[in-house]
Amino acid sequence: MEQTISPVLTGRKAAIIGIANDQSIAYGCARAFRMAGADIAVTWLNEKARPHVEPLAVALGATITAPLDVSVPGELEALFETIKSNWGRLDLLVHSIAFAPKDDLRGGLLSSSADGFAKAMDISCHSFVRMARLAAPLMTEGGAMFAMSYNGAHKVVPNYNVMGPVKAALEAACRYLAYELGPSGIRVHAISPGPLKTRAASGIKDFELLLNEAANKAPLGELVDIMDVGWTCAYLATPFARRVTGGTVYIDGGANIMG
Ligand SMILES: NC(=O)c1ccc[n+]([C@@H]2O[C@H](COP(=O)([O-])OP(=O)(O)OC[C@H]3O[C@@H](n4cnc5c(N)ncnc54)[C@H](O)[C@@H]3O)[C@@H](O)[C@H]2O)c1
Repeated sequence: MEQTISPVLTGRKAAIIGIANDQSIAYGCARAFRMAGADIAVTWLNEKARPHVEPLAVALGATITAPLDVSVPGELEALFETIKSNWGRLDLLVHSIAFAPKDDLRGGLLSSSADGFAKAMDISCHSFVRMARLAAPLMTEGGAMFAMSYNGAHKVVPNYNVMGPVKAALEAACRYLAYELGPSGIRVHAISPGPLKTRAASGIKDFELLLNEAANKAPLGELVDIMDVGWTCAYLATPFARRVTGGTVYIDGGANIMG
């Protein structure tokens, strides 16, 4: 009998960006990573969000907590400085944030404004590139990065609007970052969960219809939950997935294979 390995992420250092509340996909990742033994850093958007996030971070035993609004100059750099001074290194990074101005999200792509499109792209996509740039030098023993996408990147999902092209760019960014960071032993994964009832999702028109359709369409016949996403990311974070990088991993009960 070979030696058993448990828990599999013991001693790994993980930065989890995107917890708004206990429904957040990032919270599922944080729980799964902690249950697998990782130490975690948790961020909140601003002082308004802090009372909703800090208690969750404390309950999870997060070793680092910090504010992070990726649109505020300097906050991202400050977070990675804190990580560097506390941990000296980083192994895992979860980017689970998205934003589009309401009018741009609610209207069709044709009517999206240049400013709204740029803002959605900056917060939901380029912020991952900026994070990767700061995280990579700390991943001295290799590592894994995750960015949350959605099937609206590939297929037209009514009402997903401007976020479709933005998520397509995010998935492409994951491929290019996987290429650039592969030589450093850093893997990059686009994660594509099925629809989940979260605060971000409440901005999408007729989201309930999307949920119903997802459950009906999925070969596995059920909606996913945030722990399904968390456990898949936890697996990809382990050395068991050491030759997997750059692709989009669907966590949707198989819905994406259906016509
Ligand atoms: N809910 C779904 O159905 C679904 C499906 C697939 C992918 N996703 C993606 O998962 C990710 C997480 O969303 P969620 O559904 O858990 O919703 P959520 O509302 O719980 O999380 C979104 C997070 O984005 C953060 N955020 C927004 N603007 C930010 C900024 N400027 N700086 C830092 N953080 C900022 C919010 O604070 C929040 O924590 C998003 O990328 C979303 O597009 C969601």
